[in-house]
Amino acid sequence: MSAEVINWDELSKRRKAINWNELSKDSVGLRFWNQNVQQFWLPEEYSPSNDKAIWDLLTPQQKEAYKKALIKLTHLDTEQFSQGMPLLVLHTKNQHISSVFSFMQMMEAVHAKSYSNIFQSLITDKAEERELYEYQENHKNLQRIAEIIVGKYHKLFNIKPSRKDLYMAMVASVLLESFLFYSGFFYPLYLAVGQKKMINSAEIIWAIIRDESIHGVLVGLEAQNVYKELNDEEKEEVDTETRELLIELYDHEAEFTEEVYGEIDLVDEVMEFVRYNANKALSNLGIAPYFDNVVVNPIILNGIDTETKNHDFFSAKGNGYVRSINLVPIGDSDFARLESMLGKAVA
Ligand SMILES: [Fe+2]
Ligand SMILES: [Fe+2]
Repeated sequence: MSAEVINWDELSKRRKAINWNELSKDSVGLRFWNQNVQQFWLPEEYSPSNDKAIWDLLTPQQKEAYKKALIKLTHLDTEQFSQGMPLLVLHTKNQHISSVFSFMQMMEAVHAKSYSNIFQSLITDKAEERELYEYQENHKNLQRIAEIIVGKYHKLFNIKPSRKDLYMAMVASVLLESFLFYSGFFYPLYLAVGQKKMINSAEIIWAIIRDESIHGVLVGLEAQNVYKELNDEEKEEVDTETRELLIELYDHEAEFTEEVYGEIDLVDEVMEFVRYNANKALSNLGIAPYFDNVVVNPIILNGIDTETKNHDFFSAKGNGYVRSINLVPIGDSDFARLESMLGKAVA
C-alpha cells in the first residue's frame, strides 16, 4: 500500500489512549465490560468426557445430528473470532465498546475450542473426526452461509468504510450471533433439558449461549447507533438488504435443518426455534419481527432462559468450576435499561 492511501487525519482521531475512568458506573461500555469479564470461562472447567457413557447409548442417527450441529457451531465461531470481531474492533469509534468487542473476539476463540474439547471426549476415532471436518468443509449450505456473512465483514477491509457497509457488517454479526447459532444449539439443549442426556457437554453450550446473548445485544445496540447516522435513502437500502439477507440465510438454515434433523424427526421444532431466533436477532437490531405466530417447544425455551437457569440448573458441575460462580445473570430488564441509556447518550 502506498503512503498516500492512508488518511492520516482520519487515523489521528484514533490516537487517543483509552481512559476507563471517564465513564460512569452505569455506562454501557463499563457495564458490558464487567458483564463479559464476569462471564469469562474456559472449556477446561467442564468435563464433557463424563458424557461418554451416555454418548455410547445414543443411536447412530442421534450421534450424527449432534456432531453436525456442533461442527456448524465450530465453523461459525471460527469465522466470528477470525473475521467478524477483529474488523468490528477496528471500526468501532467508541473505544470502550471496541474494547468490549475485543474481549468478545477472544471468547469466540474459546467457544470454537470448546467444541474440539467435546469432540475429543466423544469421538475416539480420529478418522471419524476427520470425516466430520470434511463434511463441514464440503457442505454447500455451511459454506454458503459463511461466504455470505464473511462477505459483509470483508467490506470493512478499508480504512474508512461507508456507514452502510459498517451497518450491514453489524447486521451480519447479529444474525450470526442471535439467529444462525440456534439450529446448532437446539439438539444439545433438547437432549439435556428434555431428556437429561449429555448434560456435561450442555453446560459448555449453556456458557456459550450466555455469551452469545450479550454479544448479540451489544452489537445490535451499536448497529442501531450507526443506523441513526444514515440518511433516508440509505436507511431504505439497508432495510431491504437486511430483509433479503435474513431470507437467504433462512433458506440455507431450512435445508441444513432438514438434512441434520430429518432422521430424528425434529425438523418442525427446530425450524420453529430458528424463526423464534430470527425474530430475536431483528429485535436486537431494533427491527420488528419477520415471522408471525412463532410457538417454540417450552423445553427449549426453558433451556435458553438465561435469567432462571444460571449455573444451578445442571447438576453435574466440573470440579474446576470456581470462577463463574460470581456470575450475575443479565436479563431482559438490564438490556431494556441499557438500550434506554444508550438512546439518551445518543440523543
Ligand atoms: Fe461464539
Ligand atoms: Fe458471540
